[in-house]
Amino acid sequence: MLTLADHILDITENSVRADASLIEISIDEDTGKDLLKVEIRDNGSGMSPEMVKKVLDPFYTTKTVRRVGLGLPLLKDAAERSGGGFHLESYENSGTTVKATFGLRHLDRQPMGAIINIMIILIISNSDVDFFYKHRHNDRRFEMDTREIRNEIEDVPINHPEIIKYIRGIMTQGLVEIQSEA
Ligand SMILES: Nc1ncnc2c1ncn2[C@@H]1O[C@H](COP(=O)(O)OP(=O)(O)OP(=O)(O)O)[C@@H](O)[C@H]1O
Ligand SMILES: [Mg+2]
Repeated sequence: MLTLADHILDITENSVRADASLIEISIDEDTGKDLLKVEIRDNGSGMSPEMVKKVLDPFYTTKTVRRVGLGLPLLKDAAERSGGGFHLESYENSGTTVKATFGLRHLDRQPMGAIINIMIILIISNSDVDFFYKHRHNDRRFEMDTREIRNEIEDVPINHPEIIKYIRGIMTQGLVEIQSEA
């Protein structure tokens, strides 16, 4: 079964393929509004308006290895099945924003899944890309910005095992803290 983290991995890989240097991933859980928002924003090559129209068609892809591009249509479908919605905004040579909303407590809302592992995979396999992860749960926020971490670690590479361990640690602690009830 797909999780939201699986969708985030796929959408973020699109951004990497579009040569983004910065990818912002934001997750917003509002229990009062019963709403979960996921937004992935990149500064990559973007898409033309015609392309934006085509990509929600599951038979369209620019990859040559596989004929069917499914990442965006699958996320749109998952959002809509939980009573939410989907929005894609993209400008050529400027970037792309993908927004999906979900009914937080809807029975068909896919679980969050292994979001920390997905972020770690993304950082390790794309060490030249910066990731800004923002997660809000009602009035509590957690942020992890590889640009800030790079400033602190100076010449140590971001994918050094000790740095990865550190990132995993702050994410684990941060996500527990924002989810816990006051
Ligand atoms: N962030 C983005 N920037 C530029 N182009 C994008 C971006 N996201 C998607 N696209 C374009 O839209 C197409 C469809 O994306 P989608 O994720 O739906 O399928 P895919 O990546 O081609 O295949 P799959 O995700 O199933 O492996 C991509 O092939 C790419 O051309
Ligand atoms: Mg894709």
